[in-house]
Amino acid sequence: MVDKVWSIAEKLFCLQMSAVPPAAAIGGAVGALALIALLFFLLWFCIFRRKNASRTSESTDSSDPSTQGRSVAIDLSMREARSFKMEELAQATKSFTNKSLIGTGKFGDVHKGLLQDGVLVAIKKRPGLPSQEFVNEVRYLSSINHRNLVTLLGYCQENNTQFLVYEYVPNGSVSSHLYVPGNRLEFRNRLAISIGAAKGLAHLHSLSPRLIHKDFKTANVLVDENFIARVADAGVRNFLGRDDVVVAGTSSRLDADHIFLSPEVQEFGRFSEKSDVYAFGVFLLELVSGREASEPSPSSSTQTLVEWMQNIRDYTDIPAMIDERLGGTYTAEGVEEVITLTLRCLNVSSEKRPTMSYVVTELERILDKEVSLTTVMGEGTPTVTLGSQLFKSSN
Ligand SMILES: *[C@@H]1O[C@H](CO)[C@@H](O)[C@H](O)[C@H]1NC(C)=O
Ligand SMILES: *[C@@H]1O[C@H](CO)[C@@H](O)[C@H](O)[C@H]1NC(C)=O
Ligand SMILES: *[C@@H]1O[C@H](CO)[C@@H](O)[C@H](O)[C@H]1NC(C)=O
Ligand SMILES: *[C@@H]1O[C@H](CO)[C@@H](O)[C@H](O)[C@H]1NC(C)=O
Repeated sequence: MVDKVWSIAEKLFCLQMSAVPPAAAIGGAVGALALIALLFFLLWFCIFRRKNASRTSESTDSSDPSTQGRSVAIDLSMREARSFKMEELAQATKSFTNKSLIGTGKFGDVHKGLLQDGVLVAIKKRPGLPSQEFVNEVRYLSSINHRNLVTLLGYCQENNTQFLVYEYVPNGSVSSHLYVPGNRLEFRNRLAISIGAAKGLAHLHSLSPRLIHKDFKTANVLVDENFIARVADAGVRNFLGRDDVVVAGTSSRLDADHIFLSPEVQEFGRFSEKSDVYAFGVFLLELVSGREASEPSPSSSTQTLVEWMQNIRDYTDIPAMIDERLGGTYTAEGVEEVITLTLRCLNVSSEKRPTMSYVVTELERILDKEVSLTTVMGEGTPTVTLGSQLFKSSN
């Protein structure tokens, strides 16, 4: 394209210079200069535009209409990411001792730390040479602020190590509450958590340029002290570069994560808003079933829970997968509506999946209804059938 523009410019210029008498030549030259200036402007515009688009180009599916004609505006109100000194971080974690280690993720070990100013942080650490690209990505990610997202505060690159510093979310991941034996998360709590997580994702998708989470999973939905959902690790996959191979790993942990990747990601590595929606569907399935989606289905040991769900034809099969620990805390209608939404998110065809903002609206509607129905019931008007009863009688 650039070559083409140049060759047109050259031809026009030569034409002007050779074919006209001297009197007109001056006027012609001025015209040609103006033309060249215009072409330069166009060229600059094209390059500028491409640079801006490149952030999401990795995940851009050219057949996805939402990526076309996207705004090229850049956010000038970016909050400055803090550049930490390694000494500060070592002090905060008592020199990255085992005791401060709270997990290991895609980026590396995660340590809990207490900064001198009293702020609790989660510090991710991996070996890596310093790079400007790393700083640029951190600047972009830390400019994102939302009540349902974990904030990236800053970074550090020293001693051939890269650090990401996040705010610390006190009450752990949804996984750590969902899969423990004494789990007492009621249906309404689970709905509220799913709404928070959905809002976090919807916000990422509403940004310009939009951000695809790319690693949404139950373990990345954290809850704060008020049980408000906070989505962690948005865009962290962008730090991993091209060698982040999206194939099933050998460890069981990687396999469990793999279940969140949509068919088009598993096959072509094609991330999009709709692959986040798919991952959200898997999360909803885990919330309702209280089980990891990679576990075998209730009726067949060769199928995962997700595969079983995708092939479900008859809603009378559903009680087999509902978390028993929910007891009678839900209405059959509410659970059915969540399952219908889950199935839409899990559609193998990405364009058939709803958007995250639709998912937010739908979940809010379901929760409102659930609250009003179960409240009426609490006042002694038996207007609804409890889920557990309904499913029994329909067998
Ligand atoms: C503690 O750290 C040592 C190395 O410093 C490591 O070998 C050991 O596995 C760690 N222990 C735990 C519980 O992580
Ligand atoms: C720098 O990294 C090396 C290992 O790569 C480590 O042994 C050393 O303690 C680090 N230096 C500081 C100041 O932490
Ligand atoms: C975390 O959640 C548990 C309930 O699972 C609650 O009892 C506890 O107080 C919470 N912890 C904090 C730090 O808020
Ligand atoms: C995907 O969505 C389409 C349109 O809503 C529907 O006809 C189809 O059955 C869905 N596929 C699956 C596997 O649910």
